[in-house]
Amino acid sequence: MTDAGATADRVLIAGATGDTGTELLSVLHPTDLTVRATTRSYANVDTLERLGADEVVVADFFDAADAVTAAEDCDVVYCTLGTPPSYRHTIGGKLVDRTGVSNLLTASVSGDVSHFVHMSAIGVGNSKAGLPLPARLLIRGSLRAKQDAETTIRRSGLDYTIVRPGKLTNAPPSGDLLIGEGGDSVTGSISRTDIARILAAAPFTSDARNRTFEIVSRDGLEGTPTNLVDVDWAFDRVQADRDRMRL
Ligand SMILES: NC(=O)c1ccc[n+]([C@@H]2O[C@H](COP(=O)([O-])OP(=O)(O)OC[C@H]3O[C@@H](n4cnc5c(N)ncnc54)[C@H](OP(=O)(O)O)[C@@H]3O)[C@@H](O)[C@H]2O)c1
Repeated sequence: MTDAGATADRVLIAGATGDTGTELLSVLHPTDLTVRATTRSYANVDTLERLGADEVVVADFFDAADAVTAAEDCDVVYCTLGTPPSYRHTIGGKLVDRTGVSNLLTASVSGDVSHFVHMSAIGVGNSKAGLPLPARLLIRGSLRAKQDAETTIRRSGLDYTIVRPGKLTNAPPSGDLLIGEGGDSVTGSISRTDIARILAAAPFTSDARNRTFEIVSRDGLEGTPTNLVDVDWAFDRVQADRDRMRL
């Protein structure tokens, strides 16, 4: 397998208008990477360009052809897709968390993508104990969809990093993060900015290849952490490029 860090040029943020996608865009924009962003709505194109997207693709990932167009010529895919508020979080069915991710993954496998970074959640699969039962029941449909997506990603043959954050907040980044692995590890919350930095660095971090992490910030920690791991995140690779900063 090639190291995405050595060769990445164009990256895709699927779900760039979302709360996390927007944070990720602001982390990736000042780097030397060409950043392609997606939204389903033409009305969001100007905003994404203003936020620093080099290219914007209007795509609905329920449509496999849209997924192919979005992933075309990309070296890295960041997937921050999520279902808008809906009863489907509870009852499940056709959710972007499953069907959309699967279409994007298929497009990535048949394209040039060398690393797939996926934003999942604590509560999915073997991390279910990290989410209190009432919340688990409320969003059981989307948790199941996310579990299916994780399984598909692991079986895809692509290099991947699956990041399962705790509850997302708009707090300033703390940088002091607790990273667990194996599901039964950490529970709590984390700021979107912290998680965006982790997502950004993942494809350039050899330690993060083909692994699934649960992540919270130390000040958001609830309970006692177990199964903590050290990961040497390649934050340097996604530092601002000075020429791009002047734009
Ligand atoms: N909230 C939490 O505490 C929490 C905790 C852990 C994990 N998560 C998970 O983290 C992920 C990101 O969360 P977020 O709060 O940043 O998400 P968000 O603000 O709801 O954004 C979701 C994004 O998905 C896109 N999208 C939805 N359906 C689509 C479709 N059919 N085709 C193409 N794009 C589609 C939306 O794009 P457009 O509307 O522009 O088309 C939007 O950019 C979600 O999967 C969420 O479940 C959330």
